[in-house]
Amino acid sequence: MTYSAKEYGGLVAMPGFSETLLKNHFTLYQGYVANTNKVLEALARMLNEGNTATPEFAELKRRLGWEFNGMRLHELYFENLGGTTPLPGTGRLAGKLAEDFGGVELWEKDFRGVGAMRGIGWAVLYQDSATGRLINFWVNEHDVAHPAGCTPLLIMDVFEHAFMLDYGLKRADYIEAFFGNIDWSAVEGRLG
Ligand SMILES: [Fe+2]
Repeated sequence: MTYSAKEYGGLVAMPGFSETLLKNHFTLYQGYVANTNKVLEALARMLNEGNTATPEFAELKRRLGWEFNGMRLHELYFENLGGTTPLPGTGRLAGKLAEDFGGVELWEKDFRGVGAMRGIGWAVLYQDSATGRLINFWVNEHDVAHPAGCTPLLIMDVFEHAFMLDYGLKRADYIEAFFGNIDWSAVEGRLG
């Protein structure tokens, strides 16, 4: 099978995100889908030709994690946007955030702090599938520091392409706009 790019045009007109920025972002995402397919096809070809002991095979295998995560993280990001209502204070997610962080406000402070870190990457609220615990992680680029066996619940893109066109270097303003558009029902739906 090959992967197909999903359609996120419904997010255009989301407050705080220009149409140009979003359309550029969708195009970037489509590139990750196309490249994931290309890398998987090339690796399959090498396998069939008996070329798994080559530097080319090794380099493409290294590349696969970057392209695949670039695809999947963008899908999770776009799919946790487009919401119009705040996090319900009494739901399962709010209860779990309070339990693991000492309060929703403290979780949010931590998550915003991760998002404001220098560098390109992702702020991700993960749920440890082994214990149920919620932890915010910094994921560098697309592929470094994902916790094994955990489920991503809320994903925020903090690559410069996610905000610079609209906010310049004011990343905190982008994070504010992001928080205003979180689809909390999508996030809660990922909770185990
Ligand atoms: Fe992105």
